[in-house]
Amino acid sequence: MAKLVIEDRCVLKGDVKVHSAKNSILPVIAASLLTPDTCVLEEVPYLYDVDIMEEVVKSIGAKVGRTNSSLTINAENINSFEATYELVRKMRASFLIMGPMLARVGKVKISLPGGCAIGTRPIDLHLKGFSLMGANITLGHGYIEAYAEKLKGETIYLDFPSVGATENLMMAACLAEGTTIIENAAEEPEIVDLASFLSKMGSVIKGAGTDTIRIEGVRELKGTNHTAIPDRIEAGTYMVAAAITGGDVIVEGVVPEHLKPVTAKLKEMGAEVQEYERAVRVRALGRLNSVDIKTMPYPGFPTDMQAQMMTAMCLAKGTSIATETVFENRFMHINELKLMGANIKVDGRSAIIEGCERLSGAKVRATDLRAGAALAIAGLCAEGRTEIHDIYHLDRGYIKIEEKLKKLGANIIRTEE
Ligand code: EPZ
Repeated sequence: MAKLVIEDRCVLKGDVKVHSAKNSILPVIAASLLTPDTCVLEEVPYLYDVDIMEEVVKSIGAKVGRTNSSLTINAENINSFEATYELVRKMRASFLIMGPMLARVGKVKISLPGGCAIGTRPIDLHLKGFSLMGANITLGHGYIEAYAEKLKGETIYLDFPSVGATENLMMAACLAEGTTIIENAAEEPEIVDLASFLSKMGSVIKGAGTDTIRIEGVRELKGTNHTAIPDRIEAGTYMVAAAITGGDVIVEGVVPEHLKPVTAKLKEMGAEVQEYERAVRVRALGRLNSVDIKTMPYPGFPTDMQAQMMTAMCLAKGTSIATETVFENRFMHINELKLMGANIKVDGRSAIIEGCERLSGAKVRATDLRAGAALAIAGLCAEGRTEIHDIYHLDRGYIKIEEKLKKLGANIIRTEE
């Protein structure tokens, strides 16, 4: 098992380029099942979660090819309708094939995606939407079986603006009979990116990026090419790292608009953030001030940046409060940060963080993807040696994080346990 070892504090300086968004590529791979034609995705990062999604679509018969950074998918011959427990267990986003499969072949058998470290992660909103559209759904032995002669367009209200449910239902609606309206839809940039991919395939979608999305069902969709949007969470992670090390970093290949909540909060903490067309520059001259954050669906502060921002709060002047409203158990990083000397108290969905002058290096464990990122950032500001174990979590969403940080001046290596 690999681990990251970070020696002492550093000041990050230089520039770093982000890869395209994991949370955009995963639904786009699923959407490629909607057509018998070939789809080509460019600039696809080699991430564990992308590898799993490739395995999932291959397991139902799609042909997948990788040449350097492009990924080719052809789902002309779907020869299985089952996504196995082994695959879905590895990554809950496998569940995103349910909408495309119901739309394209009218049936799917998929293992219930288990919960994970950050919460139970139910799928009730997905299933409610599919049922409304006419799918016949049965649950048993840990599997969902769903059939639909032909999905019907419907008006679906989401009790919560779920990203995955919005994506799954958008994809299902593309080949349904009639019009589907998704109300209280998620507004994340990844939703807009999926809509742009589906539109290039020939679907008729209006309102992506707002809380109401209207999809006119069409008879068939064709193949297309696509380059996903930049990964706003990878970008935000490096922005926070630059700010709390008192550094000066240009994060390249970003859409500044997608980073607004993180930019606003870093400015509130006293960092300088300059926005360029496809880059942001983050500078911090001294210790940051305390700040409060409350995670919300986009365009609110992203839950995927909560752990990283909490590391910044641990070193800020004064008391900060972080409130997590999206997931019920996304404070797993707190115990690990406390091993490094952080002063954090949890009160329900809020954490109260008393900022301290410095953290001390320790042996810590990544409990989930973003918690791992938060610990890597903490190690950059800690006296002495920090060892981060279970970094396979990090590899799900960050390419070569140690190489990118080393290039910015960190004393960090990846080594085997
Ligand atoms: C997506 O997960 C992202 N993953 C997550 O990123 C991200 O944290 C999350 O959206 C919120 O922004 C991908 O895009 C692959 P949700 P998803 O459905 O779709 C509840 C990362 O670190 N809910 O918006 O699973 C759910 O329990 C990952 O990159 C229901 O109650 O998130 C949660 O509390 C982590 N019923 C809330 O909604 C449902 O049917 C948000 O979940 C569906 C969701």
